[in-house]
Amino acid sequence: MIKSLNLYVANLAVLNVKFHNLHWNVVGPQFIPLHQFSETAYEGFFESYDAVAELIKMRGEFPVGNLKEVLSLTTVKELGNESYTTSQMLSIMKEDFEGLISLATSIRGEADAKNDFTVVAVMEDEIAKYEKHIWFIKSMQA
Ligand SMILES: [Fe+2]
Repeated sequence: MIKSLNLYVANLAVLNVKFHNLHWNVVGPQFIPLHQFSETAYEGFFESYDAVAELIKMRGEFPVGNLKEVLSLTTVKELGNESYTTSQMLSIMKEDFEGLISLATSIRGEADAKNDFTVVAVMEDEIAKYEKHIWFIKSMQA
């Protein structure tokens, strides 16, 4: 479970950078709402990044604390420094939120098997947060 939690921390670290990239480089008629939405998302990643790392510390292990290791662990695909249309941005964000839900669901299962209800609760909150983000995205794509 610690390995999966560290993957989660690494992915949040990379997503923080990736969503700043989108926040800066989105172009198109929905610029303002998407600029704001990506900010809400990366602020959420940053909070979860610290909270999940602290769960690892509380279990006597070390959270990933340097970018070289973050990049060796992460499963998030980074973006180049270029412009992104609003529709590209929505698809990219949706895929990343789905990835977080999938990983959080798997960690929740591992934690449940160990009766680690704190990790279960945190992962359930994570899943709920990204489900809501996905609903926002789908509503904008409709
Ligand atoms: Fe900003």
